[in-house]
Parts: sequence; C-alpha cells; structure tokens
Amino acid sequence: MFLRIFVLCLVVGLVYSSRQFRLGRSRDGNLGSPGDYAGEKLPEERWMEQKLDHFSPTDLRTWKQRYFINDTFFDYENPGPIFIMIGGEGPLDARWMVKGAWIEYAQKFKAMCLSLEHRYYGKSHPTEDLSTKNLQYLSSHQALADLANFISTKTNDFKLVKEVKWIAFGGSYPGSLAAWLRMKYPHLVHGAISSSGPLLAKLNFMEYFQVVVHALSEKTQSDECVNQVKAAHKQVATLFKSNPTIIEKEFRVCKPFSQASDKDKRNFFNAIADDFAGLVQYNEDNRIGANETYKNLTINTVCQMLTADGGRPAYKKLAAFHSIMLDKTNEPCLDYSYKSMIDEMSNTRWSNDSGRQWFYQTCTEFGFYQTSSADVAEVFGNQFTLDFFTQQCQDVFGPKFNENFIEDATVFTNTDYGALDIDASRVVYVHGTVDPWHALGITKTRDQYAPAILIKGTAHCANMYPSSDSDLLELKRARLDIQQFISVWLDMP
Ligand SMILES: *[C@@H]1O[C@H](CO)[C@@H](O)[C@H](O)[C@H]1NC(C)=O
Ligand SMILES: *[C@@H]1O[C@H](CO)[C@@H](O)[C@H](O)[C@H]1NC(C)=O
Ligand SMILES: *[C@@H]1O[C@H](CO)[C@@H](O)[C@H](O)[C@H]1NC(C)=O
Ligand SMILES: *[C@@H]1O[C@H](CO)[C@@H](O)[C@H](O)[C@H]1NC(C)=O
Repeated sequence: MFLRIFVLCLVVGLVYSSRQFRLGRSRDGNLGSPGDYAGEKLPEERWMEQKLDHFSPTDLRTWKQRYFINDTFFDYENPGPIFIMIGGEGPLDARWMVKGAWIEYAQKFKAMCLSLEHRYYGKSHPTEDLSTKNLQYLSSHQALADLANFISTKTNDFKLVKEVKWIAFGGSYPGSLAAWLRMKYPHLVHGAISSSGPLLAKLNFMEYFQVVVHALSEKTQSDECVNQVKAAHKQVATLFKSNPTIIEKEFRVCKPFSQASDKDKRNFFNAIADDFAGLVQYNEDNRIGANETYKNLTINTVCQMLTADGGRPAYKKLAAFHSIMLDKTNEPCLDYSYKSMIDEMSNTRWSNDSGRQWFYQTCTEFGFYQTSSADVAEVFGNQFTLDFFTQQCQDVFGPKFNENFIEDATVFTNTDYGALDIDASRVVYVHGTVDPWHALGITKTRDQYAPAILIKGTAHCANMYPSSDSDLLELKRARLDIQQFISVWLDMP
C-alpha cells in the first residue's frame, strides 16, 4: 500500500495499522511509548456544531467537529492571546496539547491553546461516508470557513473582549492553512506561524525528490551516498529483468514479480524511493511518540550503511535499509500491488486511515505528485512518472479526475490564494533546507511583516517539536526568532 503524497507533519497523531502506514504516508507517526506521558493528563475531547457547506446559505445541514483546549496558562480575568493549532490531514493528537514549541510559547505569553480537527479527518465526520459525492465538502476553503466560524463562536462563548488576539499555528498542509486563514480572515486572526507550508499548488512536484537527493549530499557533505543509491537502483533495475527472484528475496516482496503488472512494478520502484523520502523528510526531528528503537535511523547513519565497504554490492545494502524500514512499520513483506492500493483508497467507509481523503484533496486542489522526473530519474529510475499518479486519481474517483482536471484545480488554488505571491501580513514562514516541501514554500523574507526563516539542516516542521538541548544552533535561533515575532505582533493593535 503506498500513497506517495508525503505531507504529514505529524502534529496530528496517527494510529494506522501496519498495512495502512504507507497509504497514510505516515509510517513514522505511530503512537510511541505512553511512558513519555505517564502522569500527564490529556485534555478531553470537545465538539462544535458546524455547517456542512459554509458557502450555501440554503443548505442547513450540520455536523460535529472535534477540538481540544488547554487553558492552564490563560487568565480569563486578564486575558493573554489565544493560540490555535490548525488540524490537518490526520486525526488530532491530544498530546500536542501539552507538548511542542507552541506550548512553550503559550507558557511565555500566558496564552490559551485551542486545536481544531480538520473536517473529514480523525473523528470529525461531516458526512455518513466518504463517497466521491460526499467528498465535495472536503476542501481547504471549507476548512478555513470552519476555522473562521470556530474563532468567532469561541470568542463569544468565552465572553472574551474583542481585543483578544488570535495567533494561528500550523505545520505542513496546516502551515499553508495558517497563512491562508490570516489572509482571508484578517479581522479574526492577528498573526500566523506557517511552518513547512507548501503555498504553491503544483501538479508535478518533481522538486520533492530533487531535494531528497540534495539532502543526502548536504548532510553527509559528500556525493558518495547519492552515488551508492544510484548504483543500487541500477543494479535493482538490471536484476529485476535478469534475475527477479534475487530482488524478491532481498526486498521481501509479498508476491513474486512474475505476477506483477506494469503498474505494480512502478509501485515497487516508488516504494524503494519512498524509503528515502521518509528518511529525509523526518530526519533527526524531536517527534513526539517516535519509536526510540529507530531514533538513530538518520540520513547520516543510513548513508554510512550504504557507503560502508564490506564487499557487498550496492543493491544488498539498499535492501538492508529497506528491510529496516519494513520492520519499522511492522510490515511482514512489501505489498506493492497497485490493485490493492486502489481498492484501499476506493473504500468509502470511515476508518482510521485518511489516505482516501488526502488523496482526494491532491486530485481536486493541490497535485503535489512526487514524480521521478528530470535528474531524479538518474538516481531513483524513471518509473513513477506524472501519468502514473494522475491515473490513480481516475482509478479511485472516476474518469473525470484526469490530468487536465487536476491541472485546472491547481491553477485555481494558486489564483485563489496567491501561491508564493500571497498578500498577508504578520505571517512568518518557516522551512528547513532538508525538508523537500520547502521547494513549494516561501523561503525569502518579503518585509518585516512577512518574514521567512529557512533553517539550515533541518527537516519537515522541525521548529514545531519540543525543543531539546541537542537541537542544531540554527533551529534554536529560529524558535527564538518566532517567539520574538509573536511578541512584537502582539504589541501591535
Ligand atoms: C519499536 O519498534 C520495534 C520493531 O517494530 C518494536 O519491537 C518495539 O516494540 C517498538 N517500540 C515501541 C516503544 O513502540
Ligand atoms: C496544558 O499543558 C501543560 C504543559 O504541558 C500541562 O501541564 C497542563 O496539564 C495542560 N493543561 C490541560 C488542561 O491539559
Ligand atoms: C542503531 O543503534 C543500534 C544499537 O544502538 C545498532 O544496533 C544499529 O545498527 C543502529 N542503526 C543504524 C542505522 O545505525
Ligand atoms: C481506530 O483507532 C481507535 C483509537 O486508537 C481504535 O480504538 C479503533 O479500534 C480503531 N478502529 C479501527 C477500525 O481500526
């Protein structure tokens, strides 16, 4: 099962079963040892009524949206700011209500912390199922309207004076939502911290794997690792034709290649490349709940493995890495079946897996297909081309969802939000050079009210995780800079 759209920042919690890991693109997000949280009470779930369609005055259908509150640092008599963490493409994880950089800021600014789950994810179910027809109400536009309604309703509920300032936080797709929320509803949201947000919708996101390849060299300060990956993939491609049983065994596939279709084969090569996507995107972060056993699985240790001299051919070293990644997600074997992937994403019942929902958003709003175009093909082969992904949209949602349709959808998204020319003030855009998503984000400061921080050497959403003494100096500085922006902006009327 693989859905290749790696976005998750993992601020949302992920409780997928092993089989669903790849589909959810979230193999690193499973619940960690509860020991980390022994004795800590997590806030209870709360619910708020929302309209199904905010843009249709005559449609009065409603549903219940989940949210959390932590008001421990907040003084209702003498109120500080309100921080809102925007939920994204997965269930909200209550542990983020007590941990993470934003909680550290909340303590400083005596803020109230709220977090709203994104419609169609986690337990926030606006419709009875996930049929393609019902998914029409799943969009970033509806999600922003949910947030706007939530903010104005809560301001009333808490009987807060109008002057209380809301600051939006979000990482990854919610990082984009944070910036868009500030742009669309400036009267409701005073400022936004947009972390690792892809603001440019793009059908063919070939830059993703370009950054992955670049990161392997950047982190190891050598091209040797990339050369080994390149050599390994060439060997795999050759053996795939001449001696497939060797590859079947080394890469622990679930079914022999003799039964594989052309699309299965593309899926297989995509899965091998995805091991590196996961490794790079979440390199060395302080993720809450990450499995300690795999803490040392980093670009540097894996590159050491791949470049170690042991007389072993490159493909065997690659297979050893792949095997670790399978174990990490508790997968007994690599299921590269295209059909079972499509079947899984075609399931319209609610489940713990949000692969179908996020895939729908890519097909109708963002694209973001991480293809093996251009120079990436040199390293990972040229098996996962754009048509491979756009075909999936059609296979899952119907023939209407073809390449032209998706292209038009991304053009509209960019026109509507302004893409990299977004006109919003008091938004700080934070990215890491090792995170492939920075390629679609704002990494240059426009002015003092639209600053960008590009952290050298960090991965996806690194600034959002709890701080640690071992963090890179640049990361520590970025967290302080963000705090400074919040402080200055809160002083503004
Ligand atoms: C970490 O993963 C390993 C291998 O899958 C597993 O045996 C172990 O129980 C996991 N540890 C935690 C804390 O989940
Ligand atoms: C809020 O977060 C703090 C810091 O982790 C924690 O001590 C407190 O119990 C939390 N409060 C609630 C209501 O969850
Ligand atoms: C991680 O550490 C364990 C034990 O500390 C070691 O056996 C393993 O080889 C290490 N993995 C990598 C990828 O370096
Ligand atoms: C979904 O996750 C919840 C919470 O971990 C669990 O209680 C439930 O059994 C899961 N449901 C399915 C269908 O796996």
